[in-house]
Amino acid sequence: MSRLEHLFAPIRIRNMELANRAVMPPMGTWLSEDDASVGDRLLAYISRQAQSGAGLIISEVACVHPSGSAGKRHMGAYDDRFIPGLKQFARTIHDAGGKAALQLHHAGRESFFLLQQGQAVGPSALPSLVFRQTPNEMTPELIEEVIEAFGRAAVRAREAGFDAVEVHGAHGYLLTQFLSALSNIRQDRYGGDLEGRATMLIEVLASVRKAVGDDFPVLLRISAEEFIKDGYMVEDLVPILPKIVAAGADVIHASIGTHGSPGGITSAPQEYEAGFNAWRAQKIKEVVDVPVIAVGRFTDPADADACLARGEADMISFGRQQLADPDYLIKARAGRTGDIRQCIACNQGCIERIMFEPGSSVRCAINPETGQERDYPRVKAATPQTVWIVGSGPAGLTAAAEAARLGHRAIILEEADQPGGQIRYAARPPHKEIYGRWIDWLIGQVRDMGVEIKTGTAVTGAMIDEGRPDAVILAAGGTKIVPPLPGLDLPLVCDAWQVLDGRVQAGTDVVVVGGGLIGMETADFLRTKGATVVIIEMLKRSPVAKVTSHGYMLHKRLRDGGCRLMLGAQVERIESDAVVVQVEGETQTLSPVDQVVLAVGMKPRDDLKAHLETKGIRHFVVGDAAGPRRIIEATEEGARAAWSL
Ligand SMILES: Cc1cc2nc3c(=O)[nH]c(=O)nc-3n(C[C@H](O)[C@H](O)[C@H](O)COP(=O)(O)O)c2cc1C
Repeated sequence: MSRLEHLFAPIRIRNMELANRAVMPPMGTWLSEDDASVGDRLLAYISRQAQSGAGLIISEVACVHPSGSAGKRHMGAYDDRFIPGLKQFARTIHDAGGKAALQLHHAGRESFFLLQQGQAVGPSALPSLVFRQTPNEMTPELIEEVIEAFGRAAVRAREAGFDAVEVHGAHGYLLTQFLSALSNIRQDRYGGDLEGRATMLIEVLASVRKAVGDDFPVLLRISAEEFIKDGYMVEDLVPILPKIVAAGADVIHASIGTHGSPGGITSAPQEYEAGFNAWRAQKIKEVVDVPVIAVGRFTDPADADACLARGEADMISFGRQQLADPDYLIKARAGRTGDIRQCIACNQGCIERIMFEPGSSVRCAINPETGQERDYPRVKAATPQTVWIVGSGPAGLTAAAEAARLGHRAIILEEADQPGGQIRYAARPPHKEIYGRWIDWLIGQVRDMGVEIKTGTAVTGAMIDEGRPDAVILAAGGTKIVPPLPGLDLPLVCDAWQVLDGRVQAGTDVVVVGGGLIGMETADFLRTKGATVVIIEMLKRSPVAKVTSHGYMLHKRLRDGGCRLMLGAQVERIESDAVVVQVEGETQTLSPVDQVVLAVGMKPRDDLKAHLETKGIRHFVVGDAAGPRRIIEATEEGARAAWSL
């Protein structure tokens, strides 16, 4: 048999024959139209995603009843008017050779949209874990209506040509809310012990099964563990799993957590390894006789194949990996695994964007095509341009990759002696190696595309005048801000970059000046070297938000590691073995201190801009050179500049 024989083995579920065991799990995109119908944006996205060749493509959340809508662009399945769009959706997947499942969803109390209008519902009037507002308790009549609505939506899916449906019983939405003792304190038959709390889920499955008949596959997505204090564990599910199967579930899709679980475990950050959640799938497999899908941080098809070979699961979901590189399976099949753009689990473009940036839709921080399929240029440039790209961080490299892909003659000029920009430093703190692997991958791809990267080359205005490129993309990053502090020239003072690249060894009692991402991550790095760290931050709230997975994990590690974050604090002066700070009008002296690490941030480095403007040379300023921000802004701007050449 060929390589990855387990992953590429077919599997049959009722009347549905899947070509392989790779699954694209449901991922909300908010690319639907404002009336919740399927439109061209969503079709363009799903068409590209379906080209992955994954055996089963599961749609994003499709709302079964208006009382469970999460917003205007939450794809709808609660009315017959959605059927034409759903038909196009299913056909698009079929055209790419895959099978399509529609995920049936009701948000329950986790709908900010309805909470704001006082219209959200849940099993009990207990506040949303994500939005902290309280829903209305569902009446028995509404419960019955919603159960039937799941069945009716399933029929619409079948009519629209879907091959299966998946009931969304995971992630803290309505059906998890019923299942969990933390959100369900009902006294009627839908509450009580776990068996009582599972009644809603079981009746929904039975309703769907009755509506679609015996042949049609019905999947159930469940959080195998609530991953929240006092929440249910996978062991607790054991008694109800056979009932779930008897009620109509043909497959169990074993996810994890809720959107209120700490650290964003549902779309787990870099701290979690590929397949970290597969053992729970295996536990479920031990008690049911239907196929089980494992999910969580799979990026490498070989890891998925190994998981299947060990018998931990029957199928594997690749979520964010699909967004990062929809060609991952094609590349794996062709033995080109080195070409796969592996998801770095940063969540900047995907889950955290759609959750925390109102009005946004899905993207990927390392793949500029995702979510922008209609804007993404595919035809080579009619008049290829010679473009100089100044800087080789995420913005410059992405600009180069996109420019080269479109047939332009790109050359990268990098001042440092190796390419990679800030990522070389960003990859040093704990759990960040994956960023380094990504940038190395990108450098390799750019070189393979024929782009020359000239390192050790500081570009001047005179060089540009002489070289006469058609356009310049300024992606030179930023320069370190040095705060005007008394004592800066003392030997104990250094900066975050010197620490991260090993030029300066970690001290023992360290003060980090600046509590932004660079300061926090440098503190995390120092912690692993045995330092005790105090971080001084001027702002009263941490600039590193705990609602993001990475932010949460970082704060937790620093706290658990004995590091201290002083908010609303300003350094007054640095002494030879102490740092004097002002906190709310009071002076405090931190001592002993044997190292002071400056991490107050960066300012844009765009010194060539004036020259380019004066000379009227076409140019674009992208990434940190336009204003220090995250990877997603850098790659987005780099790509857009290349597309506009
Ligand atoms: C942008 C985004 C949207 C998601 N939306 C859904 C959804 O609609 N329904 C669902 O069950 N899970 C959703 N998830 C969770 C994924 O299906 C998947 O379980 C999770 O990302 C973990 O898999 P991964 O580590 O392979 O990405 C979403 C995840 C992301 C990144």
